[in-house]
Amino acid sequence: MEENKEISKTEVIIRPMGPVTIKGEITIIDEDGKEIHDKTIVSICRCGISKNLPYCDGAHKGQM
Ligand code: FES
Repeated sequence: MEENKEISKTEVIIRPMGPVTIKGEITIIDEDGKEIHDKTIVSICRCGISKNLPYCDGAHKGQM
């Protein structure tokens, strides 16, 4: 089990009627293969109306 020591825990939280929030070591790569995010927390839009896709900008709150 020595190999698993290097794997850090990452949490994926699905928000009701909102984004998926990911906490942990994250790299997001766009459709062109470009690395666009390497921070440790990000909220990804699931509703499609964010003006900052792929990220949630809170616009989903107006849809409830
Ligand atoms: S989930 Fe928040 S703007 Fe889409």
